[in-house]
Amino acid sequence: MISAFVAKNIQYSHLLFNRPFHANMKAIHMTKQGEICMTTHWHITAWLITLILVVVVYAQYSRGGGKGAKITHMILRVLYLLVILTGVELFYRFTIWNGESIAKVVLGVLTIGLMEMLLIRKKKAKSVTGMWVGFIIVLLLTLALGLRLPLGFKIF
Ligand code: HEM
Repeated sequence: MISAFVAKNIQYSHLLFNRPFHANMKAIHMTKQGEICMTTHWHITAWLITLILVVVVYAQYSRGGGKGAKITHMILRVLYLLVILTGVELFYRFTIWNGESIAKVVLGVLTIGLMEMLLIRKKKAKSVTGMWVGFIIVLLLTLALGLRLPLGFKIF
């Protein structure tokens, strides 16, 4: 009976991801397919808007900040929460908790931390070169690992 259940899920994962069942993925029932797509799309939308806003807030602080920068920065902080919440949902509900998926969570949180530190340093007119390097490296690692893991797009 267990093997029949697993076989069924392997079939579903083929339908959804067009690739074999992956060790990082929780066994997926047909009814969860829509929810997974929904959550990965929310996660991607949230971090994409976050990245755009980081550039906007950075540019605002470069021009001296002011009220506009303060408001955009507050909106950005709400988006951090959305990225974290959608990430936690993906992690809690749909992934097997192993080294790779835990590393994805840690890198994701680190990326957000570095974004915020970068902006705070810019606001205080401190040196930002090191922070930029750290942020870009951690961001690229986060994207690469996210796109390597099985949910949503799997590019590597
Ligand atoms: C700016 C920060 C972040 C970026 C750029 C990012 C990027 C990504 C990308 C590209 C994916 C793959 C999506 C897909 O293929 O559909 C992904 C998936 C995921 N992310 Fe994030 N993420 C970030 C933050 C977070 C945070 C804070 C968490 C957890 C608290 C998290 C947890 C996850 C999980 C669990 C997955 C699913 C991985 C899998 O396929 O098993 N992410 N993320």
